Amino acid sequence: MALTLQTTVEIAPGIHMPQLGFGVYASPRSICERSVKHALLHAGFRHIDSALYYENEAEVGAAIKASELPRDQIFVTTKILAPPPNDPEGEKLRDLLNEAVSRFGLDYVDLFLIHTPTSGPEGRRKMWEGLEQLKQSGKTRSIGVSNFGVKHLQELAAVSSTKPAVNQVELHPWCQQKDIVDYCKRNGITVQAYCPLTRGQKFDDPTLMRLVYATLKDPAQILLRWSLQKGFSPLPKSDTPSRIDADADVYDFELTDEQMALLDGLDQGAKGAIDTNPVNCP
Ligand SMILES: NC(=O)c1ccc[n+]([C@@H]2O[C@H](COP(=O)([O-])OP(=O)(O)OC[C@H]3O[C@@H](n4cnc5c(N)ncnc54)[C@H](OP(=O)(O)O)[C@@H]3O)[C@@H](O)[C@H]2O)c1
Repeated sequence: MALTLQTTVEIAPGIHMPQLGFGVYASPRSICERSVKHALLHAGFRHIDSALYYENEAEVGAAIKASELPRDQIFVTTKILAPPPNDPEGEKLRDLLNEAVSRFGLDYVDLFLIHTPTSGPEGRRKMWEGLEQLKQSGKTRSIGVSNFGVKHLQELAAVSSTKPAVNQVELHPWCQQKDIVDYCKRNGITVQAYCPLTRGQKFDDPTLMRLVYATLKDPAQILLRWSLQKGFSPLPKSDTPSRIDADADVYDFELTDEQMALLDGLDQGAKGAIDTNPVNCP
Protein backbone atom coordinates (compact mmCIF):
# COMPACT_ATOMS: atom_id res chain seq x y z
CA MET A 1 0.00 0.00 0.00
CA ALA A 2 1.23 3.52 -0.78
CA LEU A 3 2.77 5.40 2.13
CA THR A 4 0.96 8.52 3.38
CA LEU A 5 1.45 11.03 6.18
CA GLN A 6 -1.21 8.98 8.01
CA THR A 7 0.74 5.70 7.73
CA THR A 8 1.22 4.10 11.14
CA VAL A 9 3.31 1.22 12.46
CA GLU A 10 1.94 -1.10 15.16
CA ILE A 11 4.88 -1.01 17.60
CA ALA A 12 3.13 -3.11 20.28
CA PRO A 13 -0.29 -4.76 20.37
CA GLY A 14 -2.85 -2.00 19.76
CA ILE A 15 -0.26 0.82 19.79
CA HIS A 16 -0.15 2.55 16.40
CA MET A 17 2.69 5.03 15.92
CA PRO A 18 2.66 7.46 12.97
CA GLN A 19 5.65 6.36 10.88
CA LEU A 20 6.99 9.88 10.30
CA GLY A 21 7.86 11.78 13.47
CA PHE A 22 9.04 15.30 14.27
CA GLY A 23 12.24 15.68 16.36
CA VAL A 24 12.84 18.52 18.80
CA TYR A 25 16.46 17.96 19.86
CA ALA A 26 18.24 21.33 20.18
CA SER A 27 15.03 23.19 19.43
CA PRO A 28 15.44 26.26 21.68
CA ARG A 29 12.70 26.76 24.25
CA SER A 30 11.93 30.17 22.75
CA ILE A 31 11.09 28.57 19.37
CA CYS A 32 10.07 25.01 20.15
CA GLU A 33 6.39 25.69 20.86
CA ARG A 34 6.00 27.56 17.56
CA SER A 35 7.80 24.78 15.65
CA VAL A 36 5.70 21.98 17.16
CA LYS A 37 2.50 23.94 16.57
CA HIS A 38 3.53 24.45 12.95
CA ALA A 39 4.44 20.77 12.62
CA LEU A 40 1.02 19.71 13.95
CA LEU A 41 -1.29 22.26 12.41
CA HIS A 42 0.43 23.25 9.16
CA ALA A 43 2.58 20.31 8.12
CA GLY A 44 0.36 17.55 9.54
CA PHE A 45 2.84 15.69 11.77
CA ARG A 46 1.19 13.62 14.51
CA HIS A 47 4.28 12.23 16.24
CA ILE A 48 6.73 14.27 18.34
CA ASP A 49 10.07 12.92 19.57
CA SER A 50 11.31 14.60 22.76
CA ALA A 51 13.51 13.70 25.77
CA LEU A 52 14.29 14.80 29.30
CA TYR A 53 17.70 15.83 27.96
CA TYR A 54 16.16 18.29 25.46
CA GLU A 55 14.50 20.28 28.26
CA ASN A 56 11.69 21.51 26.04
CA GLU A 57 8.87 19.22 27.14
CA ALA A 58 6.78 22.10 28.52
CA GLU A 59 6.93 23.79 25.11
CA VAL A 60 6.00 20.55 23.33
CA GLY A 61 3.07 20.07 25.71
CA ALA A 62 1.95 23.69 25.31
CA ALA A 63 1.96 23.31 21.50
CA ILE A 64 -0.10 20.12 21.76
CA LYS A 65 -2.66 21.87 23.97
CA ALA A 66 -2.74 24.94 21.72
CA SER A 67 -3.30 22.76 18.64
CA GLU A 68 -6.65 21.66 20.14
CA LEU A 69 -6.12 18.28 18.48
CA PRO A 70 -7.50 15.33 20.45
CA ARG A 71 -4.74 13.95 22.67
CA ASP A 72 -5.23 10.43 21.29
CA GLN A 73 -4.37 11.65 17.78
CA ILE A 74 -0.86 12.72 18.76
CA PHE A 75 1.97 10.34 19.58
CA VAL A 76 4.50 11.70 22.10
CA THR A 77 7.86 10.13 22.96
CA THR A 78 10.28 10.98 25.74
CA LYS A 79 13.52 9.42 27.02
CA ILE A 80 15.51 8.97 30.22
CA LEU A 81 19.29 9.20 30.08
CA ALA A 82 20.45 7.58 33.33
CA PRO A 83 19.08 6.31 36.64
CA PRO A 84 19.58 8.65 39.63
CA PRO A 85 22.55 7.71 41.87
CA ASN A 86 22.15 6.45 45.47
CA ASP A 87 18.71 5.04 44.89
CA PRO A 88 18.65 1.48 46.27
CA GLU A 89 14.84 1.30 46.49
CA GLY A 90 14.28 2.91 43.09
CA GLU A 91 12.17 5.72 44.57
CA LYS A 92 14.15 8.51 42.94
CA LEU A 93 13.87 6.76 39.60
CA ARG A 94 10.10 6.38 39.99
CA ASP A 95 9.81 10.10 40.80
CA LEU A 96 12.02 11.07 37.87
CA LEU A 97 9.98 9.01 35.40
CA ASN A 98 6.70 10.44 36.68
CA GLU A 99 8.12 13.96 36.59
CA ALA A 100 9.34 13.40 33.03
CA VAL A 101 5.73 12.78 31.98
CA SER A 102 4.28 15.68 33.96
CA ARG A 103 6.81 18.09 32.43
CA PHE A 104 4.66 17.96 29.26
CA GLY A 105 1.55 18.88 31.20
CA LEU A 106 0.02 15.69 29.77
CA ASP A 107 -1.56 12.75 31.59
CA TYR A 108 0.57 10.22 29.73
CA VAL A 109 3.14 9.79 26.96
CA ASP A 110 2.87 7.21 24.19
CA LEU A 111 6.43 5.92 24.25
CA PHE A 112 9.19 6.17 26.86
CA LEU A 113 12.73 5.17 25.89
CA ILE A 114 16.02 4.48 27.62
CA HIS A 115 17.96 7.22 25.82
CA THR A 116 21.34 5.45 25.66
CA PRO A 117 22.85 2.20 26.94
CA THR A 118 25.75 4.07 28.57
CA SER A 119 24.71 3.37 32.20
CA GLY A 120 26.06 -0.18 32.11
CA PRO A 121 24.16 -3.47 32.64
CA GLU A 122 22.86 -2.59 36.12
CA GLY A 123 21.74 0.90 35.12
CA ARG A 124 19.99 -0.44 32.03
CA ARG A 125 18.19 -3.13 34.05
CA LYS A 126 17.05 -0.60 36.66
CA MET A 127 15.73 1.83 34.06
CA TRP A 128 13.92 -0.96 32.22
CA GLU A 129 12.22 -2.15 35.42
CA GLY A 130 11.27 1.46 36.18
CA LEU A 131 9.78 1.82 32.71
CA GLU A 132 7.85 -1.46 33.05
CA GLN A 133 6.29 -0.10 36.23
CA LEU A 134 5.55 3.26 34.60
CA LYS A 135 3.74 1.43 31.80
CA GLN A 136 1.71 -0.54 34.32
CA SER A 137 0.69 2.72 35.98
CA GLY A 138 -0.65 4.03 32.65
CA LYS A 139 1.77 6.98 32.44
CA THR A 140 3.24 5.60 29.23
CA ARG A 141 1.50 3.41 26.66
CA SER A 142 4.67 1.69 25.47
CA ILE A 143 8.37 1.46 26.29
CA GLY A 144 11.52 1.03 24.26
CA VAL A 145 15.22 1.79 23.92
CA SER A 146 17.56 4.02 21.97
CA ASN A 147 21.15 3.61 20.79
CA PHE A 148 21.06 -0.06 21.81
CA GLY A 149 23.46 -2.33 19.93
CA VAL A 150 22.68 -6.00 19.37
CA LYS A 151 24.47 -7.04 22.57
CA HIS A 152 22.39 -4.58 24.62
CA LEU A 153 19.19 -5.91 23.04
CA GLN A 154 20.25 -9.49 23.75
CA GLU A 155 21.11 -8.58 27.33
CA LEU A 156 17.66 -7.02 27.77
CA ALA A 157 15.94 -10.09 26.31
CA ALA A 158 17.83 -12.23 28.84
CA VAL A 159 16.68 -10.24 31.88
CA SER A 160 13.14 -9.24 30.90
CA SER A 161 10.21 -10.80 29.08
CA THR A 162 9.03 -7.32 28.03
CA LYS A 163 10.21 -6.65 24.49
CA PRO A 164 11.17 -3.06 23.62
CA ALA A 165 8.59 -1.65 21.20
CA VAL A 166 11.26 0.35 19.35
CA ASN A 167 14.99 0.92 19.14
CA GLN A 168 15.84 4.48 18.08
CA VAL A 169 19.27 4.73 16.45
CA GLU A 170 21.21 7.03 14.16
CA LEU A 171 20.19 5.82 10.73
CA HIS A 172 20.67 7.21 7.21
CA PRO A 173 22.36 5.92 4.04
CA TRP A 174 25.89 6.59 5.38
CA CYS A 175 25.24 4.81 8.70
CA GLN A 176 22.81 1.95 8.10
CA GLN A 177 23.34 -0.01 11.35
CA LYS A 178 22.71 -3.24 9.43
CA ASP A 179 23.34 -5.66 12.32
CA ILE A 180 20.94 -3.75 14.59
CA VAL A 181 18.28 -3.37 11.89
CA ASP A 182 18.52 -7.06 11.09
CA TYR A 183 18.18 -8.05 14.77
CA CYS A 184 15.21 -5.70 15.26
CA LYS A 185 13.45 -7.02 12.14
CA ARG A 186 13.88 -10.63 13.27
CA ASN A 187 12.57 -9.79 16.73
CA GLY A 188 9.66 -7.52 15.81
CA ILE A 189 11.21 -4.31 17.18
CA THR A 190 10.40 -1.13 15.21
CA VAL A 191 13.45 0.90 14.18
CA GLN A 192 13.27 4.67 14.53
CA ALA A 193 15.82 6.70 12.57
CA TYR A 194 17.43 9.70 14.21
CA CYS A 195 19.59 12.22 12.32
CA PRO A 196 17.68 11.05 9.22
CA LEU A 197 18.85 14.22 7.44
CA THR A 198 22.48 13.85 8.61
CA ARG A 199 21.96 17.36 10.05
CA GLY A 200 22.54 18.51 6.47
CA GLN A 201 26.15 17.30 6.50
CA LYS A 202 25.76 15.01 3.48
CA PHE A 203 23.50 17.19 1.37
CA ASP A 204 26.28 17.76 -1.19
CA ASP A 205 27.08 14.06 -1.63
CA PRO A 206 27.37 13.43 -5.41
CA THR A 207 25.03 10.40 -5.37
CA LEU A 208 22.40 12.33 -3.44
CA MET A 209 22.85 15.28 -5.83
CA ARG A 210 22.20 12.92 -8.75
CA LEU A 211 18.89 11.96 -7.19
CA VAL A 212 18.04 15.62 -6.55
CA TYR A 213 18.39 16.27 -10.31
CA ALA A 214 16.45 13.12 -11.19
CA THR A 215 13.50 13.72 -8.82
CA LEU A 216 13.54 17.53 -8.46
CA LYS A 217 13.12 16.97 -4.70
CA ASP A 218 15.24 18.40 -1.84
CA PRO A 219 18.08 16.31 -0.39
CA ALA A 220 16.10 16.16 2.88
CA GLN A 221 12.99 14.84 1.12
CA ILE A 222 14.99 12.15 -0.68
CA LEU A 223 16.61 11.00 2.58
CA LEU A 224 13.22 10.83 4.28
CA ARG A 225 11.75 8.85 1.39
CA TRP A 226 14.67 6.39 1.59
CA SER A 227 14.03 5.93 5.32
CA LEU A 228 10.25 5.54 4.94
CA GLN A 229 10.57 3.11 2.01
CA LYS A 230 13.01 1.05 4.10
CA GLY A 231 10.25 0.74 6.71
CA PHE A 232 12.05 2.90 9.30
CA SER A 233 10.41 5.65 11.33
CA PRO A 234 12.42 8.82 10.59
CA LEU A 235 12.36 11.78 13.00
CA PRO A 236 13.47 14.93 11.13
CA LYS A 237 13.97 18.09 13.18
CA SER A 238 13.55 21.65 11.97
CA ASP A 239 12.79 25.05 13.43
CA THR A 240 12.21 26.57 9.98
CA PRO A 241 8.52 26.56 8.98
CA SER A 242 9.16 26.01 5.26
CA ARG A 243 11.47 23.06 6.04
CA ILE A 244 8.97 21.58 8.50
CA ASP A 245 6.44 21.62 5.66
CA ALA A 246 8.95 20.13 3.19
CA ASP A 247 9.83 17.34 5.59
CA ALA A 248 6.19 16.22 5.75
CA ASP A 249 5.66 16.69 2.01
CA VAL A 250 7.30 13.46 0.92
CA TYR A 251 4.33 11.43 -0.30
CA ASP A 252 3.91 12.58 -3.91
CA PHE A 253 6.95 10.73 -5.22
CA GLU A 254 8.62 7.37 -4.81
CA LEU A 255 12.26 6.35 -5.18
CA THR A 256 12.68 3.56 -7.72
CA ASP A 257 14.42 0.31 -6.79
CA GLU A 258 17.47 1.58 -8.67
CA GLN A 259 17.49 4.90 -6.76
CA MET A 260 17.07 3.06 -3.45
CA ALA A 261 20.01 0.81 -4.39
CA LEU A 262 22.20 3.86 -5.12
CA LEU A 263 21.54 5.17 -1.59
CA ASP A 264 21.94 1.68 -0.11
CA GLY A 265 25.44 1.68 -1.61
CA LEU A 266 26.58 4.67 0.48
CA ASP A 267 26.92 2.85 3.83
CA GLN A 268 30.15 3.61 5.71
CA GLY A 269 29.18 1.78 8.91
CA ALA A 270 30.21 3.45 12.17
CA LYS A 271 32.49 5.81 10.21
CA GLY A 272 29.44 7.35 8.58
CA ALA A 273 27.87 8.36 11.92
CA ILE A 274 27.23 12.06 12.57
CA ASP A 275 26.31 11.84 16.28
CA THR A 276 28.06 9.97 19.11
CA ASN A 277 26.22 6.76 18.15
CA PRO A 278 27.00 4.86 21.40
CA VAL A 279 25.71 1.48 20.12
CA ASN A 280 29.02 -0.23 20.97
CA CYS A 281 29.46 0.98 24.55
CA PRO A 282 29.95 -1.70 27.26
N1 LIG B 1 18.01 9.05 20.61
C1 LIG B 1 19.06 9.83 20.41
O1 LIG B 1 20.14 9.63 21.00
C2 LIG B 1 18.95 10.94 19.43
C3 LIG B 1 20.10 11.62 18.98
C4 LIG B 1 19.94 12.64 18.06
C5 LIG B 1 18.67 12.97 17.58
N2 LIG B 1 17.57 12.31 18.05
C6 LIG B 1 16.19 12.64 17.59
O2 LIG B 1 16.17 12.70 16.16
C7 LIG B 1 15.76 14.00 15.74
C8 LIG B 1 16.45 14.36 14.44
O3 LIG B 1 17.86 14.34 14.55
P1 LIG B 1 18.74 15.66 14.49
O4 LIG B 1 17.91 16.82 14.94
O5 LIG B 1 19.98 15.40 15.23
O6 LIG B 1 19.13 15.79 12.97
P2 LIG B 1 18.38 15.85 11.54
O7 LIG B 1 16.91 15.78 11.67
O8 LIG B 1 19.09 14.89 10.66
O9 LIG B 1 18.79 17.29 11.03
C9 LIG B 1 18.28 18.47 11.60
C10 LIG B 1 18.92 19.64 10.87
O10 LIG B 1 18.50 19.63 9.49
C11 LIG B 1 17.96 20.90 9.15
N3 LIG B 1 16.80 20.64 8.26
C12 LIG B 1 15.62 20.10 8.58
N4 LIG B 1 14.83 19.97 7.50
C13 LIG B 1 15.54 20.46 6.46
C14 LIG B 1 15.25 20.64 5.08
N5 LIG B 1 14.08 20.27 4.56
N6 LIG B 1 16.23 21.18 4.29
C15 LIG B 1 17.41 21.55 4.81
N7 LIG B 1 17.74 21.41 6.11
C16 LIG B 1 16.80 20.88 6.94
C17 LIG B 1 17.53 21.54 10.45
O11 LIG B 1 17.71 22.93 10.37
P3 LIG B 1 16.69 24.02 11.01
O12 LIG B 1 16.20 23.49 12.32
O13 LIG B 1 17.55 25.23 11.14
O14 LIG B 1 15.59 24.19 10.00
C18 LIG B 1 18.53 20.96 11.45
O15 LIG B 1 19.70 21.75 11.48
C19 LIG B 1 16.14 14.89 16.93
O16 LIG B 1 15.49 16.12 16.91
C20 LIG B 1 15.73 14.00 18.08
O17 LIG B 1 14.33 14.05 18.26
C21 LIG B 1 17.69 11.30 18.96
